Amino acid sequence: MAPGEGRVDRGQRASIKCQEPCVIWFTGLSGAGKSTLAEALERSLQAEGRHTYLLDGDRLRLGLNRDLGFSEHDRQENIRRAGEVAALMVDAGLVVLAAFISPFRADRDAVRQLLPGRFIEIFVDTPLNVCEARDPKGLYRRARAGQIKNFTGLDSPFEAPQAAELRFDTSACAVEEVVQQIHDYLRSHHAL
Ligand code: ADX
Repeated sequence: MAPGEGRVDRGQRASIKCQEPCVIWFTGLSGAGKSTLAEALERSLQAEGRHTYLLDGDRLRLGLNRDLGFSEHDRQENIRRAGEVAALMVDAGLVVLAAFISPFRADRDAVRQLLPGRFIEIFVDTPLNVCEARDPKGLYRRARAGQIKNFTGLDSPFEAPQAAELRFDTSACAVEEVVQQIHDYLRSHHAL
């Protein structure tokens, strides 16, 4: 058999799982609710038998991306690696959820291009003042005190998506409501 001939392809891997692999990419400020939404969505996808995997910025930065900081260059590399990993997982047949601030439009668009028709961008558009009031890790307070530099939304930019598939403000709607709307979107776009 010639090299590559008879190789198992993405369609065959996905068909075993009876699902359409895709990436559901949450972008937004720290404290916007990306991880909370992604975790809740993953639970509900699991409950209906989907094989999922959640890639989370905080977690990847403990391992694969532990050499990276928060300069523009390092964030770009962070998202590039996360996008490549997500693309491999889609190739493996999984429904991938990704929660990264991913502040730069060009970096998100590059991931979209890796995954034609399989990249669903969700803008978690919670206002900065709400994220700062939540401050779950005390990082906004430290950034305001000058102890953390390049903090997104303060002294580092966040470029809002211009054509995200979905947008939510978690200060205005409940987690279950958002999860339901994402489910509806995935179903009506044959993404599951
Ligand atoms: S990204 O900008 O490169 O996409 P990523 O999602 O991986 O960021 O990591 C963001 C998390 O790192 C935040 O939720 C926060 O806990 C932590 N963090 C530490 N320093 C910063 C900073 N300067 N700006 C933003 N988040 C930071």
